[in-house]
Amino acid sequence: MQMTINGQLKDLTVKDNMLLIEVIRDQLQLTGTHNGCDTTQCGCCTVLMDQQAVKSCTILARQAEGASIQTIEGLAGEHLHPVQEAFSQEHGLQCGYCTPGMIMSTVYLLQRFPQPTDEQIKEGLAGNICRCTGYVNIIAAVKSAAKKIQEVRV
Ligand code: FES
Ligand code: FES
Repeated sequence: MQMTINGQLKDLTVKDNMLLIEVIRDQLQLTGTHNGCDTTQCGCCTVLMDQQAVKSCTILARQAEGASIQTIEGLAGEHLHPVQEAFSQEHGLQCGYCTPGMIMSTVYLLQRFPQPTDEQIKEGLAGNICRCTGYVNIIAAVKSAAKKIQEVRV
């Protein structure tokens, strides 16, 4: 099967029961996408599939046939993506295990709500669990990222 990963078309051989996260981590060695539970609870496996946030432990690789997948490795260009920068500056992470998923969910959230309310942020990140930060700095990071993206657009 074929799928595009971070802008590159890949030819892949997958078993029918293989999960998208297995292709991403084990075949493509893109280990920034984390596996925290394998049961659709933690969100640290979140990637964008055709610009929508999905939990890659919940999708069969075959369901992503022909799709365009973006992982955390594909986010930064020459510089960090504004969401990555904001998480770093606002201390929106501690151990970092949840961070790739948080960041990909935030990118998706800000596509839909460029200036999100606290409620929209909480709802948008409801599928992502963090064991360390208490979420306060994560919410601050999302707001800061929204501002940065806005400034770039003006
Ligand atoms: S590893 Fe996918 S939701 Fe936890
Ligand atoms: S920073 Fe450790 S789980 Fe979120």
